[in-house]
Amino acid sequence: MLLSLFATACFAQKAEKFVNELLSKMTLDEKIGQLNQYNGDWGATGKITPDGDKETQIKNGMVGSMLNVMGVDKTRKLQELALQSRLHIPLIFGQDVIHGFRTTFPIPLAETASWDLGLMEKSARIAATEAAAYGIHWTFAPMIDISRDPRWGRVMEGAGEDTYLGSEVAVARVKGFQGNGLGNIDAVMACGKHFAAYGAAVGGRDYNSVDMSYRQLNETYLPPFKAAVDAGLATMMNSFNDINGVPATGNSYILRDKLKGEWNFKGFVVSDWGSIGEMVPHGFAQDRKDAALKAMIAGSDMDMESRCYRDYLKQLVNEGKVPMALIDDAVKRILMTKYELGLFDDPFRFCNEAREKAQENNLGHRKFAREIGAKSIVLLKNNAVNGQNLLPLSSQHKSIALIGPFMKATVANHGFWSIAFPDDSARIVSQYDGIKHCTKNHSTILYAKGCNINDNDRSGFAEALETAKKADVVVVSLGEAHDMSGEAKSRSNIHLPGVQEELLKEICASGKPVVLLINAGRPLVFDWAADNVPAILYTWWLGTEAGNSIADVLFGDYNPSGKLPMSFPRTEGQIPIYYNHYNTGRPAKDDEDKNYVSAYIDLSNSPKYPFGYGLSYTSFDIANLRLSSSKMALNGGKIEASVEVKNSGNYDGEEVVQLYIRDLVGSVVRPVKELKGFKKIFLKKGETTTITFSLTSDDLKFYNNDVQFVNEAGEYDLFVGNSSNATLKGHFSLE
Ligand code: NOJ
Repeated sequence: MLLSLFATACFAQKAEKFVNELLSKMTLDEKIGQLNQYNGDWGATGKITPDGDKETQIKNGMVGSMLNVMGVDKTRKLQELALQSRLHIPLIFGQDVIHGFRTTFPIPLAETASWDLGLMEKSARIAATEAAAYGIHWTFAPMIDISRDPRWGRVMEGAGEDTYLGSEVAVARVKGFQGNGLGNIDAVMACGKHFAAYGAAVGGRDYNSVDMSYRQLNETYLPPFKAAVDAGLATMMNSFNDINGVPATGNSYILRDKLKGEWNFKGFVVSDWGSIGEMVPHGFAQDRKDAALKAMIAGSDMDMESRCYRDYLKQLVNEGKVPMALIDDAVKRILMTKYELGLFDDPFRFCNEAREKAQENNLGHRKFAREIGAKSIVLLKNNAVNGQNLLPLSSQHKSIALIGPFMKATVANHGFWSIAFPDDSARIVSQYDGIKHCTKNHSTILYAKGCNINDNDRSGFAEALETAKKADVVVVSLGEAHDMSGEAKSRSNIHLPGVQEELLKEICASGKPVVLLINAGRPLVFDWAADNVPAILYTWWLGTEAGNSIADVLFGDYNPSGKLPMSFPRTEGQIPIYYNHYNTGRPAKDDEDKNYVSAYIDLSNSPKYPFGYGLSYTSFDIANLRLSSSKMALNGGKIEASVEVKNSGNYDGEEVVQLYIRDLVGSVVRPVKELKGFKKIFLKKGETTTITFSLTSDDLKFYNNDVQFVNEAGEYDLFVGNSSNATLKGHFSLE
């Protein structure tokens, strides 16, 4: 331990010395060059781009980093150019590696539904290994924006609505991407994004404004970023939104005061795509020069694609408006990461053909994708049909009809951000293939597409109905296309698109038992299905091995254990909807209570499916809640809460046991419930175990009205269960 601390200190000293010496040799132009990042659009637009020849700019040391350039060949070629610059400073290659790279994994929201931090870390680890083998040094992930609005397409990239869960997932992903530390050949720099509060865009409309109290910003939206920084996050990305009128890119409160000040962040901040220049249309900067000034003063270090730094920073320094010290600080942060990545020692260390080749079709990675895919699926409903739960399917089902536009689809399983290999159809396992393979010829498989994802064509209905009638059981696969959620993919209507629900109704009217698979990048609204279809699996977008993962769950080779990371609304009118809301002065007693209470007269308050919810093929009883004490000391106090968990059903399985608290009275009102811990456990059927949670007074801190992070003495309820509806209750006081 001591030895490794010593080694780290020596490394930091060496890095500092090297970078300071380099900096002292750099001209202002060369410094500004390091702050400039370009998109590698050679393929699309040819060499000469409207703003000049990028290759020449790289050769002249005018570019610090490139994005969307991948593969050993291409990165090597550009790195060679960068090394022709006067000071031979290498480039960093960045890329959106959001849910896998060569092998794609479930979208991050889906992976979060596994509540399995170890698996999420491993998924990021594999993605980093594959990306690094293709010459990538830096991923623009994890996305750690808390979001309570499923209309916002970018919920697919994050960990959902909860700050505690979001923080844990952020740490797991940072650890996964950065592995044993930058400088290792399979580690890439992580980038926390989007800083900050992007998920709170008004109306769920992408790029929209954010207006919230600083208390809420600090309590709900910033903690996952802070947790990522504490875990060693290398870089941060600005968000497109303004926060209370100040664009995040020019926001010195979040960048200088919080991130680089209070949190002591040592990495660098990259703008989002063009977000420095976008401060002009925001109406926050007079022109692009003013935008460069405001972004630099606020603490944005690298300019992705707006060219404002390239065009104006020199002038701003010469006019005395931007102090040289700020430029030096930004450049130094970037050079330090290049040093840590080992690029000054060997700029081509990520350019190795053999390593790249080995990752082209890594079977171990595919096996893992299948596993995490199955663990990301959430069983929403599993009613009995003929006296037996419909799922899992078995060899008793002699003929199975597979219906729906997602059954034979491949790219649709990929999810929005699989941009490195967008058309990878040959490698993606369709649901049809996965299911057919899993039946091992016990059952006859029938198929009809039925309809498209998003149009009004009903011409396939008749064939689908005929096919359904011939089968013992029907599996219908519906949802939204892989490009209907993601960046710039906000939807005001989050029902099943096109005529899919109509198709479902017709199939159900045939009287055959129906299992519904829902493929989506967000919580959808599917009230009719939820009330009328006996079995529903939420299958998100699961990536390369989607078909196999789904088949494993359908046939019980894996007993589903996923839990929702977001509340699922009954309809769009309930949005924003989240479990940890305040009580109000007029809380409704229940869903029926409409008597001058906080309620809709035409809709329940409760979600269709709550945060933390998900079924299993077995059942778990959680009982005997015990607290180690009914009192916790205000300073440095701790209590333990234990429960007995019994697998009382007929299958072995995993359960996510969740701990929530409620602070009954505060100097500011407190949420009705707050997640403070969870454990995912495996129990064989009939097995019982005791699990214990520790809760400290630090876990009970919150932001008061003066935005100070404090403990307040008072009474607390504590709940343990398997969703945010947990009712098993204890009580303690903080004193
Ligand atoms: C814009 C997106 O908002 C961001 O998440 C992404 O990393 C960049 N483009 C680069 O592709």
